Amino acid sequence: MPSEAEPSGLLDRIWQALHQATVERQHAWRTPVLATVDNEGAPQARTVVLRHAAQSSAILHVYTDRRSPKVAQLAACPAGVLVFWCPALSWQLRVRAAFTVDDCSDSMQAVWSQVRHTRAAKDYLSAAAPGEPLPAVGRLTSPEPQLAVLIGRVESIDWLEIGRDTHRRALFDHQSTRWLTP
Ligand SMILES: Cc1cc2nc3c(=O)[nH]c(=O)nc-3n(C[C@H](O)[C@H](O)[C@H](O)COP(=O)(O)O)c2cc1C
Repeated sequence: MPSEAEPSGLLDRIWQALHQATVERQHAWRTPVLATVDNEGAPQARTVVLRHAAQSSAILHVYTDRRSPKVAQLAACPAGVLVFWCPALSWQLRVRAAFTVDDCSDSMQAVWSQVRHTRAAKDYLSAAAPGEPLPAVGRLTSPEPQLAVLIGRVESIDWLEIGRDTHRRALFDHQSTRWLTP
């Protein structure tokens, strides 16, 4: 029997851990895998950095290069899944979210004004798009930052705890929160 009578207290702990991962560089949830669907209906997945997590709005942010294939994939099919595993907590999360891409608004500009002073700035200033062959004459710089913010509106969270003797699982979505058989 789960120790919490209701999974709702657990949901608060999950969001606290997600927020912690955005501020603590060593947190295992800082680098989830983002899965999307490509134009041919095939699954695609890659590691990303979780930049922002807000329980009140159920929003997660990931930064990316707006020319990267995942941006076109999410524009065509906004459904994505972020998969997190934290050995310290022994928790897996599978977060389903509907993604929008913000690459031109004032809020993106505000993000860039912070990112431009960090080591990550160069990730968004390459003349070549992610996945393109490397230019023969060395790396050129884009005149404009290619930063985009992937904004994931969380639709459901599938939580799994791997215990020594027993495992626990809960699902949180718009309809309800409920315990599941692991
Ligand atoms: C530890 C780690 C963190 C990464 N963080 C990001 C990230 O925050 N955003 C991003 O676009 N790519 C990130 N990448 C690179 C992606 O995994 C991927 O290679 C790249 O974005 C191209 O993906 P795509 O071709 O599916 O668009 C990261 C890779 C690693 C290994």
